[in-house]
Amino acid sequence: MKFYIEKDYKGMSRKAADLTADKINQKKGMILGLATGSTPIGLYQKWIEKCKKGELSFRDVKTFNLDEYLGLPKEHSQSYWTFMQEQLFQHIDIDPTNVRIPCGDHEDPEEHCKEYERELDACGGVDLQILGIGRNGHIGFNEPGESFENETHVVRLAEDTRVVNSRFFDDLSEVPTHAITMGLKSIMKAKEIILLASGDEKSEAIYRTLFGEIDSDTPASILRLHPNVSMIVDEGAAAKVKGQI
Ligand code: GLP
Repeated sequence: MKFYIEKDYKGMSRKAADLTADKINQKKGMILGLATGSTPIGLYQKWIEKCKKGELSFRDVKTFNLDEYLGLPKEHSQSYWTFMQEQLFQHIDIDPTNVRIPCGDHEDPEEHCKEYERELDACGGVDLQILGIGRNGHIGFNEPGESFENETHVVRLAEDTRVVNSRFFDDLSEVPTHAITMGLKSIMKAKEIILLASGDEKSEAIYRTLFGEIDSDTPASILRLHPNVSMIVDEGAAAKVKGQI
């Protein structure tokens, strides 16, 4: 695993853009795995800047997002579909037909999960997966206790995740209780993974990911079993591992 410590959020985003832009340009038909949350927004802004300057193109890229709230139609202001349009897709030259995000209001979510995984596999899997991390060590919406063997599936959200994410909703009661997420097994199929983390509140999760047991208590710890992972964190998120790596 490669581990980069950058000064702050800006530095983390810049490093992530530097590590990814050439790969996206060079691999024809790249399959890009994308994440939501506050963490990758700075990276997406860098991609947008580069795209506007003509230094980066998403014309041949196909994307698969990690997750979506169950019960939110895509037009909902807090759906991850809306997030991705606003934070990235509206501003870059991607073909909208090449964008995949789990459907939050599908009539048969279980079947939809299977279809999502099948399509992912049929494309040859994700070439480059961008990940954030939850304070409890979740990746995508794979909460502590999730089996490492899960592919795309419906999950019940941990209560602390709902509380953390309630900052985007008017009230905790509006935060969905369930979501669709690519599973840990789906994520591990990616050929390359870049995990981003910023801020002190992620430092415990980063510590456990790197030095805790590799088990489902810290879902991100599975990444230690992957052959091609880079972690880019800022000093806040690195606070508990500095000096040990
Ligand atoms: C959310 C998402 C994750 C994300 C995480 C951290 O619940 N499902 O994919 O990585 O929580 O979010 P943030 O980057 O806002 O801290």
